[in-house]
Amino acid sequence: MQVSTTEWLIHDYREDDLAAVVHLIDTTAGLGQESVFSLAECITALTSRQPAVVAVSRGVPIGAALAHLAGDRAWVMRIAIAPAWRGRGLASALLRELERRLVERRVRRIAYVLPEEEQLGEGLQNAGYSRRPAVAYFEKTEPQHGPSAGLLEELGGRVLPGDLWQKVAGMEAEKALIERRVVLPLAEPERAARHGVRPPRAVALFGPPGTGKTTFARAVASRLGWPFVELLPSRLADEGNLAAALRTAFARIAELERVLVFVDEVEEIAPVRGEGAPGGMHGVTNELLKLIPGFREGEERLLVCATNSIRSLDPAFLRHGRFDYLIPIGTPDAAARRAIWSRYTAGRAGVDLAALVDASGLFTPADIEHAARIAAQAAFERDLGEPAEGQRATVGAGTEDYLAAIAQCRPTVTPAMTAEFTADIGSHARV
Ligand SMILES: Nc1ncnc2c1ncn2[C@@H]1O[C@H](COP(=O)(O)OP(=O)(O)OP(=O)(O)O)[C@@H](O)[C@H]1O
Ligand SMILES: [Mg+2]
Repeated sequence: MQVSTTEWLIHDYREDDLAAVVHLIDTTAGLGQESVFSLAECITALTSRQPAVVAVSRGVPIGAALAHLAGDRAWVMRIAIAPAWRGRGLASALLRELERRLVERRVRRIAYVLPEEEQLGEGLQNAGYSRRPAVAYFEKTEPQHGPSAGLLEELGGRVLPGDLWQKVAGMEAEKALIERRVVLPLAEPERAARHGVRPPRAVALFGPPGTGKTTFARAVASRLGWPFVELLPSRLADEGNLAAALRTAFARIAELERVLVFVDEVEEIAPVRGEGAPGGMHGVTNELLKLIPGFREGEERLLVCATNSIRSLDPAFLRHGRFDYLIPIGTPDAAARRAIWSRYTAGRAGVDLAALVDASGLFTPADIEHAARIAAQAAFERDLGEPAEGQRATVGAGTEDYLAAIAQCRPTVTPAMTAEFTADIGSHARV
């Protein structure tokens, strides 16, 4: 698997990277990037297929991070960064990728031993001692591995990459709200408790399709470092009795140390009871109503429900005491569209972002992503064709491609839906 930014690409170490990685380790050792592990030990780790990742820019290796495993602990052996690439966030990007590999291999503790600044103890030296360089020992405990890893797998859950929160482009107002109300009290429960703040246990996100509700739920799990378990009603229903399947799923979830549980399209399982509700759903809504209090008793857990249609949810389901916050996620404003467009245009020079922002009013992030894909495809197909006389094919989509793609896409959210959403904010939002 590869992770790319506009600047570099990070891939798993491959045999043919060996020479370049050794060179990186060797040439950076004098630059404050030495470690307690020798070059020989690093080579042994690399050749014995210990976890390692390599960053490449324009085909040239510019950084590497390697580790070795010892039981459920891993030792980071070295992070080597080419001098020209220092101070640009590459080391943390490499460490993050390396950590993901380690977590996948069921590592519970990650240790990184660095040489401390040399401090010669004169007295000791006079007495004939030679001082071994002191070490600074950093250790990180990874959530949710060990015995509950199997359980997590069984629930279809997983630990998400660590950078999803940063990847949510724009949406600053929603991000700030969710950060303050949801993420920080959960991340810093003691500090919150000092002010009498009780961390939320259940929140609902509502808004039109494609505005980023699922994206936010995943980003919160990523930010907290908690495993993400999505409960899919369709899959639970396959087990026969949906209410019973929900009960079993929540019982299993209770065994996890920490978890974010996500239920998408929750209106399908907790619709308004009474007429109009699909047959059999009554019991399911009741079951969910009974399960939430138990779920709320645990610590380090959060239930996130998402819906396009908050007005069709059973009011009892949404009341205080069950859901701490009902947070609207709407279509992005101009600033947010700009941030999202610049994500999808990869910061290419010459793209007139202002024009794209203007032309894509009412577009959701999903619409923008779709239009960007159409434009990229158009640029690709042009590249495949013969360039017209005297014309060089340009690389990547340009403003015209994007505007054409926007013109082709109809926004998912209609003015009527916006009006309905605004009314729902008035009647339902609780932030
Ligand atoms: N802030 C954002 N920046 C960049 N891309 C985004 C952003 N928000 C959402 N996207 C992208 O838009 C698409 C739709 O987002 P998402 O699935 O989270 O929407 P949703 O509100 O859950 O939609 P639905 O109601 O249909 O379930 C995804 O591909 C996601 O990657
Ligand atoms: Mg969704």
